[in-house]
Amino acid sequence: MSQAQMTEADFDTAPIDEGIGAIIEARGRGLDDLAPEHVGTLLRRHGVLLFRGFTKDTEGFVAFSDRLTEDFSNYRGGGLRFAMLDREAVGGHSTVLTTTGHTQSFGIPLHGEMYYMKHPPQLLWFYAEVPPVAGGQTTLGDGAALFRALKPETQAWFRENDIKYVRNLVEGDWQATFMTDDLEEARAFAAQNDLTMTHDPQTGTVGAEFRCSALRQHGGETLFINNVLFIYLGEMAFRSGWASKNLPGLRSADCPMVVRAGDGGEIPRAVMEDVRQTSDRMTRKIPWEQGDIVLIDNHRILHGRAETDGGKRSILVRLGGPAFPLPKAA
Ligand SMILES: [Fe+2]
Repeated sequence: MSQAQMTEADFDTAPIDEGIGAIIEARGRGLDDLAPEHVGTLLRRHGVLLFRGFTKDTEGFVAFSDRLTEDFSNYRGGGLRFAMLDREAVGGHSTVLTTTGHTQSFGIPLHGEMYYMKHPPQLLWFYAEVPPVAGGQTTLGDGAALFRALKPETQAWFRENDIKYVRNLVEGDWQATFMTDDLEEARAFAAQNDLTMTHDPQTGTVGAEFRCSALRQHGGETLFINNVLFIYLGEMAFRSGWASKNLPGLRSADCPMVVRAGDGGEIPRAVMEDVRQTSDRMTRKIPWEQGDIVLIDNHRILHGRAETDGGKRSILVRLGGPAFPLPKAA
């Protein structure tokens, strides 16, 4: 029997939401019954998996994700390490983090995790410690389907133009971002990650730029997977005054990261409007239940968050590389 047949026979699957992912139900099995090869086969097929009924507690999630992940990320270089947006480590595990802005109710549009860095992690884990009652679902979107759904002129713009993520990190923010007070250490980290870094000794502000395509190639398909829309809407929130009103504790009145065309100009408004509308249309939702574990192939599938009602919600996150074969996006 092939690996794929064994997997199919072992676990009935239903999509997580229309046209995306697979729900794997425990049906009397435990997380220890899931071999990395099984999980790898399922993830390569579906792109995102929801494990339901396997555990009720965080330690179960931690042990399972430990077994399937190598090189956990501590979110060094992360784009949102400011004020109330920062992630926090939980339960004494430096790699088990709260989600971005977990004390906030705003929605987050579809994005790939850490695409403003050279090596976005391949695996993104979520665990529903306390699922939201109404709203606040984690969202999903397929990078290949998203690209196909964009207007031809939008596709052409992203094929013909690079983008760049431009950071402006005031004193305090660069230390939080690079997780060091040592400027030389920050420089070394930036160099390793192809970030072009500058430092203004007068103000103490650090600039960092990363230039890349908004598109990736994976399994013969073109994917729209990046942080373009999230950062664009973030900049709008700063410009409109929403950020200063709703995010106390910010060290700067300006958005700490913006996204631009490769030549430094703004991305055309019509392009961004199509990205926004198409992303909205292609957004799917995870119907969280307590104890659910979601494993996302961050090289294929985008994620985000629906606006919450402000009620209690605790979704934990881990980032890292797979302890099983998984094709990378190029
Ligand atoms: Fe994210």
